[in-house]
Amino acid sequence: MASTPQHWDAAYAQGDTTRGWYQSQARVSMELLGQAGVSTSASIIDIGGGASVFVDDLLRAEFDDVTVLDHSPIGLDIARARLGSPSERVTWIVHDLLTWTPPRRFDVWHDRAVLHFLLDDGEQSRYADVLRSATHPGSIAIIGVFGPTGPQMCSGLPVQRYDAAALDTLLAPTFQRIATRDDVHTKPDGSTQDYVWWVGRRGDPSGS
Ligand SMILES: C[S@@+](CC[C@H](N)C(=O)[O-])C[C@H]1O[C@@H](n2cnc3c(N)ncnc32)[C@H](O)[C@@H]1O
Repeated sequence: MASTPQHWDAAYAQGDTTRGWYQSQARVSMELLGQAGVSTSASIIDIGGGASVFVDDLLRAEFDDVTVLDHSPIGLDIARARLGSPSERVTWIVHDLLTWTPPRRFDVWHDRAVLHFLLDDGEQSRYADVLRSATHPGSIAIIGVFGPTGPQMCSGLPVQRYDAAALDTLLAPTFQRIATRDDVHTKPDGSTQDYVWWVGRRGDPSGS
C-alpha cells in the first residue's frame, strides 16, 4: 500500500469520524497558535488537512484567510459538506503537496499527521522545500507527527517517527524551534497514540 490519493479517498469513504486520526476539536493546534502569538489576521494553510476539524475551529475563532490542501478530494468534500456555507470562506486545494508550487506565501504552515508518511530522504527534503516556498521570514510552522513512542503504522501505512531534534535537523536552518509539546491522542476506538508537536519560526530573510 502507498500513500496515494486513492488510498486516502478509500479511507475517508469509510467515515472520517472513525479514522484513527479523527479528533472532534483541534485543541493542541489552537493552543499552539495562541502560544506562538498568531493573530486572527494571519494567513494559514493546513497541509494535508483532509476532513480535519481544524478549519472549523479556525473559522469559529474568526481567522479569515484559511487554506486547506490535500490530495484526497473525498477528505476535502467531507470538510466542505460539514461546514456548509462557511466553507466558501476557505480556499480548498486538491494537490499532492510534494508537487505543489505555492502561489503565495502564508504566515502559518500547519501539518498534523502528514509529514510522518514521507519515508525517504528525497520526499522529506522536498517537503522542506515546499515549506520554504510557501512561507516568508517570520512565518510560523506547526507540525504534529508521531513521536518516538508513537505507532509505526497508521491507516495501514508505515510511518517515520520523530523527536523534536530530528525535526530541528529537517527544518534547519530556515526554521528555528520555538516550542515543542508531547501529546497523547485518543483514537475513536479508545486506544492512544503519542505525538510530538514542533513549532518553529522562520528566521532567514534570504532563504528561498
Ligand atoms: C492521517 S491523515 C491526517 C488528516 C488531518 N491532517 C487531520 O489531522 O485530521 C493524513 C492526511 O494527509 C493527506 N496526505 C498524505 N500525503 C499527502 C500528499 N503527498 N499531499 C497532500 N496530502 C497528503 C491524506 O490525504 C490525509 O488527509
